[in-house]
Amino acid sequence: MFMDATLTKRDFQQLSSFIYDNLGIKMPDSKSTMLTGRLTKRLRALELSSFSEYCDFLFSPEGQEEEMVHLVNVITTNKTDFFREPSHFSYLTQTALPTLQKIHTYNGHNSLKVWSAGCSTGEEPYTLAMVLSEVEASQAGFRFDILATDISTRVLEIARRAIYPMGLIQPVAPLFRKKYLLKGKNAKNPQVRIVPELRKRVRFGRLNFMDENFGLPYTVDIIFCRNVIIYFDKQTQEKLMIKFCQFLNQGGYLFLGHSESLHGYDTPLSQVAPTIYRKL
Ligand SMILES: C[S@@+](CC[C@H](N)C(=O)[O-])C[C@H]1O[C@@H](n2cnc3c(N)ncnc32)[C@H](O)[C@@H]1O
Repeated sequence: MFMDATLTKRDFQQLSSFIYDNLGIKMPDSKSTMLTGRLTKRLRALELSSFSEYCDFLFSPEGQEEEMVHLVNVITTNKTDFFREPSHFSYLTQTALPTLQKIHTYNGHNSLKVWSAGCSTGEEPYTLAMVLSEVEASQAGFRFDILATDISTRVLEIARRAIYPMGLIQPVAPLFRKKYLLKGKNAKNPQVRIVPELRKRVRFGRLNFMDENFGLPYTVDIIFCRNVIIYFDKQTQEKLMIKFCQFLNQGGYLFLGHSESLHGYDTPLSQVAPTIYRKL
């Protein structure tokens, strides 16, 4: 039965290189305590008594099949918010959309294609859906489609349910709350749910950026990949951005998180505003 397992240096090294190879996520030595804390629950659930037993299981074909999902759920950081980094949404509607509309047909499609890459629990793609629904309501002929992907099945489940504690909706403007959020009836546990019309507009799917084949159904005009590449090293970031460019239409925009940059990378992307890039 589970005792008081410690993560040896060897176990940590094995785990961190496995995590880097399979998820692209850096695990410096300073993360050892965090990993011990978070994986202890997995050891308990699997009734394993040491981390080396856990590694043996994880690295076995059976473990790769069954445990990978749990490992990802344990180590990824999913912090997100509605209207996070709000200037991006103003740039999207005030600059990116009018610019794309000048060259439009949206590269042969009849609707604007947006991809929230690393969407976490859904606040980012639903914010995009609110903002773009407003444009749709005011501009005849404008349509949009949103894809939202994440590596973690746990966050995708939450995103698909689209139920959030009331405390999280503070950044949503009152008018948007009225239009796009339904209030729950439980006064002890106040919650909101995204209205079905908006939920329908976002298509969720699992995608690991380390996968060879992304399997996206189409190329897109806008990529929001914010606060994700910060976990990757420079080499992985550059490779990923080059790959993103294969899915980004000519003239399309990439939005990164506030502390992320492509400075010094050899990609077809040019910076057009802080943390905003364009494929030109
Ligand atoms: C901090 S959240 C960012 C959420 C949102 N984009 C935002 O800015 O609010 C980072 C997300 O990236 C996802 N992620 C981490 N590594 C990934 C990988 N290799 N492939 C796909 N998604 C990954 C995590 O599961 C997590 O949900």
